[in-house]
Amino acid sequence: MNTTDLARIARAMVVSGKGILAADESTGTIEKRFKSISVESTEENRRAYRDMLFSTKGLGEFISGVILYDETLRQKSADGTPFAALLASNGILPGIKVDAGAKDMAFCPGEKITEGLDGLAKRCGEYVKLGAKFAKWRAVITIGRDIPSAACITANAHALARYAAACQAASIVPMIEPEVLLDGEHTIERCEEVTEATLRATYAAISAYNVFPEFLILKTSMVVSGKGNPRQAGPGEVAERTLRVLKRTVPAAQPGIVFLSGGQSDESATAHLSAMAAAKNLPWPLTFSYSRALQNPALNTWRGEAGNVAAAQKAFHHRARMNSLACQGKWRPELEKQAA
Ligand code: 13P
Repeated sequence: MNTTDLARIARAMVVSGKGILAADESTGTIEKRFKSISVESTEENRRAYRDMLFSTKGLGEFISGVILYDETLRQKSADGTPFAALLASNGILPGIKVDAGAKDMAFCPGEKITEGLDGLAKRCGEYVKLGAKFAKWRAVITIGRDIPSAACITANAHALARYAAACQAASIVPMIEPEVLLDGEHTIERCEEVTEATLRATYAAISAYNVFPEFLILKTSMVVSGKGNPRQAGPGEVAERTLRVLKRTVPAAQPGIVFLSGGQSDESATAHLSAMAAAKNLPWPLTFSYSRALQNPALNTWRGEAGNVAAAQKAFHHRARMNSLACQGKWRPELEKQAA
């Protein structure tokens, strides 16, 4: 374990004014995204789409790191440069999704446990050689009638901690992602309660497995109203509840916290982040690690056509810039209309 490298990478991931692009959609997830724009999910189309994103001019001004999927880490830009090298040449850290997906959990109906621990230490060694500097593992917590169960929260917390330990041992910064889904009719109060219980269990396991908080990034969901709940809380309330939970559970020793967008609209994800980042005296920097809320406009502009690449990159650059402002607490709705 190289603690100097780990500390440097973790700090760079959450450096002021920048955030992370999650482009680690699994083959199944990207197929769903491509279906929405009627594009076939072939290996070449997946490569061309990621190439469009990663070769956007000026991206390094707003993006500190990109999370890649195994296939993408092995792919190249049109001119033959491996994606990891292309990103690194723009000052962007390449990262890798190392979990093997959330699978149905036995005897826990409606709940998931994330797989991928077997052989992880060996895979980490290979990913280091391919240029990965950090890694992500996503756990899924579902809110519903009688769930989440204690078994689901505990099992996922332990998997997150074991994965984080394996990454640190290989000098890769782990990004732990316990995602509380926003699907459901639950209230924001219920989301707050479940998020707090999830984070408490996660950090208890982190401590039990001797993971260093200094070399760890949390990727969390925000405390929001369930998608189907008639009362949708505004940015002020989302910020207040999310920050309260984070202050109660996340060690101050941690270098930073990033958020997933989880199906929020592009502008809500930006507005919520800005409201939180504007808070004073937080122990950690806050920033974004969005997939959908950064990529949606670019995906819908691209539509698999080489002729749309420039316009798609413009749309992507705009969302990256808006979220860069948001992570500094400086985003305002009227800025959305302003050209770069
Ligand atoms: P969303 O921002 O679309 O939720 O994706 C983030 C992510 O990395 C999911 O694992």
